[in-house]
Amino acid sequence: MKKIVIDPITRIEGHLRAEVEVDESGVVREAYVSGQLFRGIETILKGRDPRDAGLLAGRICGVCTNSHFRGAVSAVEDAYSLELPKNADIIRDLIAMALFIQDHVVHFYHLHMLDYVDVTSALSADAKQTSKEAHKYHKRPYRNSHTHYEESLEKLQKFVKAGRLGPFSNGYWGHSEYKLTPEQNLILISHYLEALKFQTNISKAVAIFGGKTPHPQSIVVGGVSSVADMLNPQRLNDYIFLIKEAKDFVDRAYLPDMKLLSIAYRDEIKAGIGRANGNFLCSGGYEFEGDMKLFCGGVIYGHNFDEIEEFDEGKITEEVDRAWYDGDEVCYTDLNEDGTLKTAKNEDKYSWIKAPRYDGKTMESGPLARVLVSYLKSNPLINPFVDEFLKDTDLELLDLSTTVGRNAARAIETSYVCEYIFKLASRLIQNIKYYDTDTWVKYEFEKLPKQTKGRAFLEVPRGLLSHFVSIDDAKIKNYSVIAPTTWNATPKNHDGKRGAYEEALVGLKIQDPSKPLEVLKVLHSFDPCLACAVHVIDANGVELSRYKINML
Ligand code: NI
Repeated sequence: MKKIVIDPITRIEGHLRAEVEVDESGVVREAYVSGQLFRGIETILKGRDPRDAGLLAGRICGVCTNSHFRGAVSAVEDAYSLELPKNADIIRDLIAMALFIQDHVVHFYHLHMLDYVDVTSALSADAKQTSKEAHKYHKRPYRNSHTHYEESLEKLQKFVKAGRLGPFSNGYWGHSEYKLTPEQNLILISHYLEALKFQTNISKAVAIFGGKTPHPQSIVVGGVSSVADMLNPQRLNDYIFLIKEAKDFVDRAYLPDMKLLSIAYRDEIKAGIGRANGNFLCSGGYEFEGDMKLFCGGVIYGHNFDEIEEFDEGKITEEVDRAWYDGDEVCYTDLNEDGTLKTAKNEDKYSWIKAPRYDGKTMESGPLARVLVSYLKSNPLINPFVDEFLKDTDLELLDLSTTVGRNAARAIETSYVCEYIFKLASRLIQNIKYYDTDTWVKYEFEKLPKQTKGRAFLEVPRGLLSHFVSIDDAKIKNYSVIAPTTWNATPKNHDGKRGAYEEALVGLKIQDPSKPLEVLKVLHSFDPCLACAVHVIDANGVELSRYKINML
């Protein structure tokens, strides 16, 4: 057995370390993934006014600020049984949905794409052929003139002539895992560059009703404060215009690129590369018509697509057997004498991430879980998008449970989120038209219960997010978060069960241990956010605080 350690994994948020044990033939036999940064934002929340929870919890992450902000406010509203006006929910959804689009596009093009696209190969592409190639995946491909591709080539060549590749330096260029033709590589590189502009514009959409981004300001306990924006037709128009532009990119670049990738990497998909244990979890959410929701809630075990269980929050548990906590002490003791980290062994503690389980099982959360559960529950909004993708790529549903498929699910999700936003916006306009302009529920804080508990389950871009708050003497007594990456990057526990990341790595064949591109691809496909993943107080309110940090 040989051990490959990648630390840190780059092009993600936060600090992730991966260790894989490979046998003589280069096949991964065991994997350990580790969250490397202790955080403890929950301790900061203790003793605070519950109405401030959102602003503080938003600081858990610099990327998922919006999700934690809303999660915390919703948990407090649940504790006080506050019923929101419809407009407040719609505005929160409009902010969240713009974030879904931003997060997914940035994840693919700027964090993950270079695991599939060889930048150096794109340099030998023919611009006219590239334009022809793009037509295979869409009738009207995004910015598809050969002069546009020539411009993209020029930009690349400038990097090369300067003696470095700028943002593209330090790739495993020329690796045998890269399967695209020079022209296909150029299509995706040109979209990488376009997506830089896209990032800026879609962030404006988040900020229109969020106040700013990251770290929005407009969600308050009881509703939203962006009342003037809601009532100003120009603001709503600006929002819709930005979403229309985004939708154009998603429909004519992002989704076609994912079809291109799914066809080019067909062998890898059919070999089930990157498949985890097939347990999927989705809480559902985002109401759009009557009781109908954008995402259906449900649970799948072991890729059994015939039986979908209902989601039951009572089945969630958390433990810390293999995480660096010991009773009420943080036990960061696995250090060598020189202060470097020892590599993980069979029984050692090896991560700051705790071990959430659903009915005792490790689960996968995220766009793939949402797409599978919603599709199998015959969601009328989602199913046509999934069917079209599978038809165009000649794939079946199980194929989505792979490294490439996880990305495809994310792109499919982005395309139906774009559709859903227009339905939402028109509902808001209709409410205003009929003089329903409520955005906030009135309450007297002094009259609310002094001692209470609340929780919120939200589907956010990276997966299922839960916030739990317990309030005593009108102050936060205890706080707990389980983020999407906590589910997916969980360490093993006393149960020895691998989490989704680890399970997806085992069985992988590594061509060249000095360039473990295969490992990066699998991990990136989950869109890790390690800043979000590390949390310190468990869901049952058991206090794990008062830390003594035993650093050397
Ligand atoms: Ni995050």
